[in-house]
Amino acid sequence: MAKPLIGLDIGSSSIKVVQLRNASPKGGVVTAFGLEPIPAQTIVDGTIMNQGAVVEAIQSLWKRLKLKPKDVALAIAGHSVIVKKITVPQMSAAELEEQIPWEAENHIPFGKDNVELDYQVVNKKGAGGQMELLLVAAKKEVVHDYAAVAREAGLNPLVVDVAAFTAQNVFEINQDAPAQPGQVVVLINIGASISTINIVSGNASAFTRDVAIGGNAFTDEIQKQLNVSHEEAEAFKVGGVDERGVVPQEVERILQSIAEVVAGEFQRSLNFFLGSSADAQVARVHLSGGSAKVVALQRAIERRARLPVELLDPFKRITIDETKVDPAFVRANAPEAVVSIGLALRSPGDKV
Ligand SMILES: Nc1ncnc2c1ncn2[C@@H]1O[C@H](COP(=O)(O)OP(=O)(O)OP(=O)(O)O)[C@@H](O)[C@H]1O
Ligand SMILES: [Mg+2]
Repeated sequence: MAKPLIGLDIGSSSIKVVQLRNASPKGGVVTAFGLEPIPAQTIVDGTIMNQGAVVEAIQSLWKRLKLKPKDVALAIAGHSVIVKKITVPQMSAAELEEQIPWEAENHIPFGKDNVELDYQVVNKKGAGGQMELLLVAAKKEVVHDYAAVAREAGLNPLVVDVAAFTAQNVFEINQDAPAQPGQVVVLINIGASISTINIVSGNASAFTRDVAIGGNAFTDEIQKQLNVSHEEAEAFKVGGVDERGVVPQEVERILQSIAEVVAGEFQRSLNFFLGSSADAQVARVHLSGGSAKVVALQRAIERRARLPVELLDPFKRITIDETKVDPAFVRANAPEAVVSIGLALRSPGDKV
């Protein structure tokens, strides 16, 4: 079996880490899980502004969880990553390897010397002698920065994945039955500053987009309208009550109005996808990420998309070793843990 990797999700509000035993396409067992908050403004728009703060948070997690292994899988998201579905004439793997940089010139708005390129064949035998690929381009600088903080913390980053694909990993592993061809689901990971959308058709990603909106939008608006600190606004959002145990009515109202804005943003992406795949029958939306816990947001997405909305449950095929981790803590943070679980399912050799 391939050497296991620890999933290390460097998020803008917290760092999440997951270790799995016996990770395989059939599942795995959580043997370590931790979450370490990082100060606001440490990561802005997917760019690490304060490397020291990230290194410190990673090191304190490794210490607290008494983790020994150093090999990790990381994820990147945001505007520095582009995933495009392209079609090319059917060709061999070797020919494709040569062709990819040229395709990137046509499809990727960054200079090809500034990006790490990768691809995944999603349909070998498409219509008219064509094959379909997902072309992935990530800015070298950003990949380098994320790998650098991990190295600085004494770790060995072996895989850098696209965040939107990690939720797909978790979704696929936890399905009750193998995906039917043509079955379409929408996966949205709603973080603090970035939300990643991945529309999966059968077993392949058909569309991904990262949007720069998430839980911070709620906190910022509560802070502004109630004239409170960021911390107080965050507490209102998560707990809904103030120190006297009173829920300011305004909080609920603000949550609802921002939920409409965020859901509207997601719907734009969904409409874009539907516009190019008119016959797609979308079955459901699965949410993950900490901000998926905002009930008003779940309802707003449901109304706009006219689709059932459910939290993505990572623990159908993945179990928790209760002698090692507190299952209540892991379950309470399941939405936040999805990206790191998806990363812990990766094997060395998997690229972006
Ligand atoms: N119970 C809750 N109710 C509302 N929001 C919550 C709750 N729990 C967590 N959140 C929000 O979830 C967000 C954190 O989620 P997550 O850990 O997925 O983000 P991140 O990975 O740190 O950020 P990003 O991926 O955007 O860089 C924060 O905005 C936090 O306020
Ligand atoms: Mg995140």
